[in-house]
Amino acid sequence: MIIIGSDHTGIELKKKIISYLYENKIEYADVTNFENQEGDDYPDIARIICTKVLEKNNNLGIAICGTGIGISIASNKIRGIRAATCTNEYMAEMARKDNNANVLCLGARLKNSERTDNVISIVDSFINHFYDGGRHERRLKKIKELENIYLKDGR
Ligand code: RB5
Repeated sequence: MIIIGSDHTGIELKKKIISYLYENKIEYADVTNFENQEGDDYPDIARIICTKVLEKNNNLGIAICGTGIGISIASNKIRGIRAATCTNEYMAEMARKDNNANVLCLGARLKNSERTDNVISIVDSFINHFYDGGRHERRLKKIKELENIYLKDGR
């Protein structure tokens, strides 16, 4: 399932992506507001999306803030999350194939977000590519080691 959410900057972009998911019968859960709300800061939004993504192995997240940067920084603080800010299809493809990214971060205030088809092609690329494994496994294991060393549970 796709878990989608945004802070206040990304509500319109989120609606466009949701329409696409709905029209293409792609299962999704919108876990944030449709209204602009005071205090919907991207770290809170990252937390809501990422905890839901981690509930099931095959879940993927789409997390939107103004640039896609803040929400990826916050998401990557959560153990088990591999969040990637992607501004084109190729980045989205490789984030899945090489990095086994489980959260796609998008910037609602970017120039390329003005065109819905640009954003949809990034989303499409992310959800239709799969982790290649193989030589990448060693690198992902090293990321796990970083989590184990530097992320203390409950902090
Ligand atoms: C919110 O104004 C903005 O800072 C946020 O959406 C994001 O772009 C941060 O990285």
